[in-house]
Amino acid sequence: MKTKKVTIHTLRKMKERGDKITMLTAYDATFARLLDESHVDILLVGDSLGMVIQGNDTTLPVTLDEIIYHTRAVARGTRRAQVVGDMPFMSYQAGIDQALVHAGRLVKEGGCSAIKLEGGAQHAELVSRLVACGIPVMGHIGLTPQSFHQMGGFKIQGREDGGAERLIADAKALEAAGAYSIVLEGIPTEIAKRITEEVSIPTIGIGAGAECDGQVLVIYDLLGMDDEFKPKFVRRYEHLATRIRTAVDAYVADVKDSAFPNEQETFYLDKKKRPAKKPGTVAAIAHVGGCAPEPIRPASPAAADDGGSETKLYSTPKRD
Ligand code: KIV
Repeated sequence: MKTKKVTIHTLRKMKERGDKITMLTAYDATFARLLDESHVDILLVGDSLGMVIQGNDTTLPVTLDEIIYHTRAVARGTRRAQVVGDMPFMSYQAGIDQALVHAGRLVKEGGCSAIKLEGGAQHAELVSRLVACGIPVMGHIGLTPQSFHQMGGFKIQGREDGGAERLIADAKALEAAGAYSIVLEGIPTEIAKRITEEVSIPTIGIGAGAECDGQVLVIYDLLGMDDEFKPKFVRRYEHLATRIRTAVDAYVADVKDSAFPNEQETFYLDKKKRPAKKPGTVAAIAHVGGCAPEPIRPASPAAADDGGSETKLYSTPKRD
């Protein structure tokens, strides 16, 4: 059966019904396939990749070509979720015509079905031009990481006098310009609640409390890939940093002990060309590492036959 894609209309109806929207970041096809299989509604190829993938301190160095590259990978691994490509710093701020060309490249070459950009009322004209070209736009207000230097760091926004009114005006300007949803990042929950009630398009929160129409997290934060990093708004559903280290320690130990690869994991010459086996050769190797690898079946020469020379090298997440 053909999978029904999540569209801007699906998301609008979810808000109307009060169904919460789930969004996560994804940067490659393997993660995209896994998150899609868990029915995450939106996969954002965020410029957060500049930090979690590239190891920068901010998102500012990310280029349009890099976002396109990762978006193409995520689109390949996705069947159901809406894939959103993030417009990186200075790909849309320098002029409307240039921004249209860049957003067009992200959709055409990256294969996403919407783009996201940071900022409110100041980008209303750009948003309406993009929508007129047929490119759905997700806005992003509050703590906007591309304004790192302007904000003086990653700081919660909207607490100053008039802050709530400014954010509500930004949200309304984006809605009026035709944006189909808005990310609310790093703002007090009371302001997020008001915005969510006052606009008809879905709000997706990160560090903005539970009153938004949906939530987004950076997938590496949710999985606990960095045990040094635990800001207040993140909930870790796993501690993969520890589990990955345990698995890799076991692999390193196995290689050092010549316990990997075993006979099952080895290619051989055709039977008739094999040298005679010496008595006492290893049959099966008991695993001593901290986490359970694939079960090791007793090795037998017949089981070790691979039926010819063709083999699959790497896993490739596929969509329809
Ligand atoms: O770049 C990103 O990942 C984001 C989300 C955290 C909203 O903008």
